[in-house]
Amino acid sequence: MDTTRALAQSLIEAVDDPVLVVDDGPRVSAFNAAAHKLWPSAAAGKPLTFIVRSPDVLDAVERVLGGERRIAGTWSERVPVERLFAFTVSPVASVDPAAPARAAIVFRDLTEARRLDMMRVDFIANASHELRTPLASVLGFIETLEGPAREDLAVRDRFLAIMKGQAQRMARLIEDLLSLSRVEMNEHRRPDSPVELSLIARQIVETLRPLAEERGVAVTCTVPDPDIVVAGARDELLRVAENLVENAIKYGQSGKRVDVTVDIDEADPAGPQARLSVRDYGPGIAAVHQPRLTERFYRVDSGDSRDKGGTGLGLALVKHIVNRHRGRLTIESRPGEGACFRVTLPLLPS
Ligand SMILES: Nc1ncnc2c1ncn2[C@@H]1O[C@H](COP(=O)(O)OP(=O)(O)OP(=O)(O)O)[C@@H](O)[C@H]1O
Ligand SMILES: [Mg+2]
Repeated sequence: MDTTRALAQSLIEAVDDPVLVVDDGPRVSAFNAAAHKLWPSAAAGKPLTFIVRSPDVLDAVERVLGGERRIAGTWSERVPVERLFAFTVSPVASVDPAAPARAAIVFRDLTEARRLDMMRVDFIANASHELRTPLASVLGFIETLEGPAREDLAVRDRFLAIMKGQAQRMARLIEDLLSLSRVEMNEHRRPDSPVELSLIARQIVETLRPLAEERGVAVTCTVPDPDIVVAGARDELLRVAENLVENAIKYGQSGKRVDVTVDIDEADPAGPQARLSVRDYGPGIAAVHQPRLTERFYRVDSGDSRDKGGTGLGLALVKHIVNRHRGRLTIESRPGEGACFRVTLPLLPS
């Protein structure tokens, strides 16, 4: 008898999901470590209702103890946090015909899977929405050009220019989505080429100078000599700097000044880190928005950002790239006082 019990216990311990074995009553007769983690108060001999209150689970157990075969279902819990489980109740056979009926309940936590599902649905909805707007506008202009504006050369040129802008916007969106999925796919592989961080900062400041001048923003660039070298992927770090400086110019335009700095953060608990800071003196970002800025398609003021050609993917990309580099992105901002985005990256081991 004892060996059977030990065998049964070792079998249920081999399952990673929570398992409860119950006998007539129904009372708990055995459970595994995963079940104990989920229900710390679980103990052999306790009535099942003390642990699981879901009427669906209790009903299935009763039916299986009464002779029915395997029953599957789902059960969701709202407190303390919202969780979703799939469960199956199966009869447990015994060699002794006089033994009381037993049932095994196996739970599977679907909470994380459901969260990912929701994210995917949201993502597809957002991406389609972002593409649909410019596409509808291009189609509208094509129709006008085919019909009423056919012969009007001035109108034609104007419409073509708008259509070009919309097509470029769609191309950029697709390019960003592809970069994002590329970076995400490689997130576990840490890039390790030596990259000079000051060079990155200087190059981006030069590239964005025309945009800055157009908006009346003066960009300063303070970098150390000799340069700071990090372990990274050059093209990805260029994207990081580009997104941060471009955002600072676009959204911090009213501050008329953007400071880009490269230095070493000596205070980091993990040892000295390379640091790229981009500071603007614009309207800043309210605290409620700050944690969400790196979500895909998240914009503080979507109308304003869309007017500025933004899709809300820039900071999502920045965060993924920084993660892949085992670095950190921090945002400091008080409304009215501008914003400072900082990226710290591990130094290249010498
Ligand atoms: N320096 C800043 N000051 C104020 N708001 C900012 C700043 N940087 C970003 N934001 C806000 O964060 C939002 C998200 O930025 P993000 O770079 O992810 O997207 P975007 O600039 O709108 O689009 P994309 O970068 O894809 O062109 C922006 O829409 C803007 O509202
Ligand atoms: Mg951006």
